[in-house]
Amino acid sequence: MNPTQAWSAIGERQLVALAASLAADAREGGVIFLEGDLGAGKTTFARALLAAAGVGERIKSPTYSLIESYALDGWSAHHLDLYRIADAAELEWLGLADLLDPSTLLLVEWPERGVGALPAPDLRLHLRHAGDARDLEVTALSARGRAWLGRVAGSVMVQSDS
Ligand SMILES: Nc1ncnc2c1ncn2[C@@H]1O[C@H](COP(=O)(O)OP(=O)(O)O)[C@@H](O)[C@H]1O
Ligand SMILES: [Mg+2]
Repeated sequence: MNPTQAWSAIGERQLVALAASLAADAREGGVIFLEGDLGAGKTTFARALLAAAGVGERIKSPTYSLIESYALDGWSAHHLDLYRIADAAELEWLGLADLLDPSTLLLVEWPERGVGALPAPDLRLHLRHAGDARDLEVTALSARGRAWLGRVAGSVMVQSDS
């Protein structure tokens, strides 16, 4: 069984803080799948994580471009949004294999649409609308993912105390 933790009624600020809590780890690379309906907060999470990891430029949603890439002092990150992909074979042109240096961070929205063409995730987040807030479920799928899940849990605790 992969360890999973769930939280309900996460506000936007809390989600942003939670994403930021992963920034230092994310600089070491890894793969995060971001699941949930339109407007669930996948891009909000990715943007907060990238900004906290040091991406200074404006972080655009890759909804139309499919991929936005960032490189900063020895580290790179790719943010994908596969919403518009009908078939994972459409991803071939991206040359994903070349992007997958183990020290690279890969954030993938709508990973369901890229099954077979994507690397195995370390962490999977699922966001669900819950009124104005969001319910969040986080699953760790590797040793690295388990460390990250611990970080997320710590962040949620700090946030609910304050
Ligand atoms: N708790 C929350 N977490 C994330 N986003 C929230 C939250 N509450 C409200 N929002 C808003 O919902 C929208 C989420 O949009 P976005 O992150 O682009 O979603 P997605 O990428 O999943 O389609 C943003 O406008 C954001 O301000
Ligand atoms: Mg999005």
